[in-house]
This record gives sequence, C-alpha cells and structure tokens, in this order.
Amino acid sequence: MHKYLLVGTSGLTQAEGVHLAYLVASVLFILGLKQLSSPKGARKGNITAAVGMVIALGTGLVGLHPSSTKIILIVAGVAFGLVVGTVSARKVKMTAMPQMVAAFNGVGGGAAALVSVEEYARLIAHSSQAVVFVLTVVFSVVIGCVSFAGSVLAFLKLQELMTGRPVTYPGQQVVNALIVVAILAIAVFLIGFGTSVALVVVLLALALVLGVAFVLPIGGADMPVVISMLNAFTGLAVAATGFVLGNTVLIVGGTLVGASGTLLTKMMGDSMGRSLGNVLFAAVGKVTSSTGASTGEGETRSVRTGTADDIGVMLAYSHKVIIVPGYGLAVAQAQHAARELASALEKRGVEVSYAIHPVAGRMPGHMNVLLAEADVPYEQLKEMDEINDQFKLADAVLVVGANDVVNPSARNSPSSPIYGMPILNADQAKNIVFMKRSMRPGFAGVDNDLMFDPKTIMLFGDAKDSLNKLVAAVKAA
Ligand code: TAP
Repeated sequence: MHKYLLVGTSGLTQAEGVHLAYLVASVLFILGLKQLSSPKGARKGNITAAVGMVIALGTGLVGLHPSSTKIILIVAGVAFGLVVGTVSARKVKMTAMPQMVAAFNGVGGGAAALVSVEEYARLIAHSSQAVVFVLTVVFSVVIGCVSFAGSVLAFLKLQELMTGRPVTYPGQQVVNALIVVAILAIAVFLIGFGTSVALVVVLLALALVLGVAFVLPIGGADMPVVISMLNAFTGLAVAATGFVLGNTVLIVGGTLVGASGTLLTKMMGDSMGRSLGNVLFAAVGKVTSSTGASTGEGETRSVRTGTADDIGVMLAYSHKVIIVPGYGLAVAQAQHAARELASALEKRGVEVSYAIHPVAGRMPGHMNVLLAEADVPYEQLKEMDEINDQFKLADAVLVVGANDVVNPSARNSPSSPIYGMPILNADQAKNIVFMKRSMRPGFAGVDNDLMFDPKTIMLFGDAKDSLNKLVAAVKAA
C-alpha cells in the first residue's frame, strides 16, 4: 500500500513525492553552481544551493517512523552541524578559508565511508549482495577515507599545527605502493570471493593510512590544489554512497562536487604552470631541495626604497595605474584602503584597474572576494589574460602584498620551483612600487628579482598602513 501526499488536486505516492523533491533539490544545486560562477551571483548561488540542501535533508527524513530513535539522532546531528558550520563560517578569517574547506570536506568523505560500511554490514547479514553493490561500497570506503585522512593532514599543515614542509623519507614510494597493493588485494577479495565486515573495517583503516601517506610529502604551498582534489574525491565517495543507498540526490550532489572539484584542480594546476603529477609527487618546498628556496636574509644586492609622500606624488600625476593585490593584502586586510587609494586617484582623473592573478592569495577567487567586500566595481577587476598587455602602458604598478605572481623567475629561470607559472607582466610598467614588510620571499620561497629592478621602488611596511599613507599623500599632492 502506497502512502499518499496531496500535491495540488492530484495525489502523489510518497515515493513519487520523494523523487520529485530530490529532483527539485538537484536542480537547485545546479542553478546554485551556475550562479556561483560569477562574483555578482555568488551570494545568490550559495542561498540557492542551501535551499536545495534543506529540501534534500527534509526529504531524507520523510519515511522515518516519527517515534524512531533515528529521528532524534538525525535531528541532533543536523542541529550540531548547523551550529558548528554557522559559527565557524562566521568566525573564520578569509586567510584561513582553505583549512576550513579542508575540514568540512574531510568530514564529508568520512561520513560517506561510514554510511557505506554500515549499509554493507546491515545488508550482508541477511543475504549475499550483487557485485555492483560491493564494488560501490569498496569505492566509497577507500575514496572517502583517503579524503578524510588527507584533509585532516592538509588542515594540520595549513593551520601550522605541524610542519608545512613536505615530509619525505627513504623508501616512501615503496611503502605507499605496498599500502595500495594491500587495499587492492582486499578489494578484489571482497568484490569477487567473499563477504567480511571485518575486512571492510581493515580496508577503512588502510585507506586512512593511505590518505596520510599521500599528503605527507606534499608541501603546504600546494595544499589548496590538494584540498580541491580531495574535495573531488569526497564528491565521488558521496556519489558511490548514493548508489549504495539508492539515493538519487546523493548521486547528483556527489557527482557535481566530483566534477567541479576535478575542474578546479586542473585550473589551479594550469594557473601555476604545474601538472597534477608534479604537485602530488615532486615534494616542492622541501628544505633540502636545490631550488633556491630562500629566507631573503642572505641577499646582498641593494634595493631602492621610497617614501609614501614621493610615491603618492608620482601616482597622483600618472595617467594609468594598475594595482596587483596578493596574499599580503588579505593578511593586512587592506582591501578597503586599496579602494580608497583607487578612489583618490580616480578623482584626479587617473585610470585605475586591479590585475587579478588566478592563484593570488591562498584560495581560488581570494582577491575577487576581498575586493568585492570593499565594493570595488567588478569592471575594475581584470583577469590576467585581459590585463597582461596593459602593463606596458601603465605609468605605475602597485604590487600590494603580492610576490610569486609577479616573479619573473617563473619566466626566466628553469631551476625555479615556479618556472612555467604564467605571471602578471608587472615588470613591463614604467614604475613598479613593491609594497611588503621585508625582503622575505612569497609562498613558493623563491627570491624575486623584480625587487632589484631599476624601475622598482620598495615601500616597506604593513600593506594597510602603507596604502593609508599613500591615500593621504595623493590627496595632498
Ligand atoms: P605570495 O607570493 O605568498 O607573497 C605574499 C607577500 O605578501 C609576501 O612576500 C609577504 O612579504 C607579503 N606580506 C605578508 N603579509 C603582509 C602584510 N601584512 N603587509 C604587506 N605585505 C605582506 O603571494 P601571491 O603573490 O598572492 O602568490 C600566491 C602564492 O600562493 C603563489 O605561490 C601560488 O602558487 C600559491 N598558491 C595559491 C593558490 C590559490 S588558489 N590562490 C593555490 C595554491 C598555491 P613580507 O613577509 O616581506 O611582508
């Protein structure tokens, strides 16, 4: 006997209602993603996808018996997740966003794996199951656990609770290969030859070890790429769990995360001029490497320094100024000061634009989000390809807390760890103002010859302080 829900004048069976609600949730996920693809629609996109999630969650509860203790557990879990998610999203600093994404992503992968283990144990107790079912359980457990353990390690590295350097040891690849072989052997046994909940638990433990072993040799600088890849893994694990449970919204949601995570990983790798293989296996950032990693302290060449007053006058009498924001702008929370400087210059008829490198900062879209927060008009934000020809026409470029994204060694020095990364052509401007606190290198740990360029003036100090001084100097000019 079907239970009936009333929809308009026609009756729907409960199962049909559930399918319809899942379809609506899936459409909202896709619409949300579409809206997220531009800064203008990003807020709306978040809300659209969140409404889809509420519908999916609510629908999941339909069909559970109201007196079931499961309901209490699920509601408690949802309430706990809501509180933790809301509080941490409100409190997190923009610069700590990658580790928050890592943490949230990791628990998603872990949850997918645990649900699959539970479902396997429940069903296998009654009857043997089809090969496809066991295959998806194995897939979900392995990928979900690798994602969970890898994300935890990425979190620890980015939060500086452990070294951010690649951790390598002799025979590491052999150890990792042995773990993979053991996982494959258990997977083949479970899929083709026998049933064992204990072996699924061993599989889970081995996959956790693999997640740790896999992320250990990757440097902190590459963590955002790794997190994006693990995010894609979580999506695939969730989709597999959807197959295990026969739940369409999990399949659709997981596939969307898997696909978008994969594309994002590729785009980040391309923006850094690195293949995924190089990011995962080259241990870039290792102390013992001969890549010229530097603290800036042994540098003997001299640089030209300037005062905010002199630079302010130079800017005030320019026609075209380009601002290159980077990680330091985010650390200093200098986005409002940058916009104020741009406004002061525009009042004097100077044309100002912002050059956005795709991997400036520490997460995709980092600079766009910061500058949007300061109400910088979207039209002034120029992507790298759009603005790179404009630098040679600029009277001045202001490099604000950026470093690697303007480092010419990415073009000129094959031994540099960032060789091949497309960079902003800041070196082609008539004057270069480099705003940072010291001679220390950027995230990649590589010296930047642009600081020694005869056209460069260094303005040392916190980016916000320096920009505020420049605003005053421009207004006084
Ligand atoms: P970085 O090369 O990391 O340089 C940031 C600079 O900001 C540093 O040289 C630092 O110099 C300066 N700084 C820090 N705090 C400051 C403050 N309060 N005031 C002024 N300056 C400050 O940044 P970038 O140019 O944005 O490049 C991003 C790097 O992250 C690239 O290597 C990129 O490959 C990597 N990465 C990014 C992503 C994404 S998706 N964005 C993903 C993976 C890797 P001082 O210490 O001397 O002040």
